Amino acid sequence: MSSPVTEPIPRFYDLHPDPGDLVAEILCGLRQTPKRIAPKFFYDRRGSELFEEITRQPEYYLTRTERWLFEQHGEEMALGLGRDAVVVELGSGNASKIRLLLEHLRPSAYLSADISREFLLESGRALEAAFPWLEVHLACLDYTRPWDLPAALAGHDLVAFYPGSTIGNFEPEAAARFLDNLRSVLGGGMRLLIGVDLRKDRAVLEAAYNDVQGVTAAFNRNILEVVNRVADGDFDPSRFRHVASYSEHEGRVEMHLEATAPHRATVAGHSIEIQRGERIHTENSYKYTVNGFHALASEAGYRPERVWSDPSNLFSVHLLRAVRDEPGEP
Ligand code: AVJ
Repeated sequence: MSSPVTEPIPRFYDLHPDPGDLVAEILCGLRQTPKRIAPKFFYDRRGSELFEEITRQPEYYLTRTERWLFEQHGEEMALGLGRDAVVVELGSGNASKIRLLLEHLRPSAYLSADISREFLLESGRALEAAFPWLEVHLACLDYTRPWDLPAALAGHDLVAFYPGSTIGNFEPEAAARFLDNLRSVLGGGMRLLIGVDLRKDRAVLEAAYNDVQGVTAAFNRNILEVVNRVADGDFDPSRFRHVASYSEHEGRVEMHLEATAPHRATVAGHSIEIQRGERIHTENSYKYTVNGFHALASEAGYRPERVWSDPSNLFSVHLLRAVRDEPGEP
């Protein structure tokens, strides 16, 4: 007897958005002025791999510095978060950071949520192999849309882990809404350990998003390959130039793809015209001061409890505690 191909994978929750919704979202962004594609579309398998490669570039200080903070202060962080909780990590990618905290945290279970299904399954299996005592749950979902905790984990003592300064992809108001919503999904008493990149010299920031090896450029262009696959498009990524620059006024690094020639693409049967020099916006990475992030967290219903940063003040990790149970106005 052969087993059915659709045999469910234990503790795997496939809540990936409907492909039709994603196509609609892509078309909507490409019809705006300026055109835009949401950063979650970076992370197909190749995109997740390219991002990992970015984190190994000498200019990309973020991952290295955050890892150093986990290595230096992991025990303290775990003390603040508490043992035996269910840890929920958002956008976990290869789940390499939680590894630095697991022995300190000794969670009763770990839920890894990510939009890249294959990557999630692979890194989940590797994590189980490396930490046999850990109960690993995997959820393929788009956490930028409304989502619910898998029923098996609801009602437990919950801790959220959101490293990498991924929060910087949201506009500050949207970041506050997102954190507010996270608090209501995980419930009262939840704690959040979150990595936040800090404001600094333009030169350092711009180098981090323009590595000399061109990995960030390849990562940026790959978003068009994802759009081609998800929305049946025919963009030619080689006709776009990677542009990343820091806006001091907005406190963010912006990434764009600039057309080097006039370009007409068809996406889901719709024609998209792009002028020479026109840019498609693909990402914002907001940078915060410690005080600025504290203000945002307070607005979202959290009390900032601790902050760790490196001696050069490149990066920060915050421990926040939920102070309101229900979403709403401060
Ligand atoms: C994963 C969103 C934190 O904004 O620095 C890296 C993604 N983009 N290089 C970031 C990214 C370009 C990264 N985050």
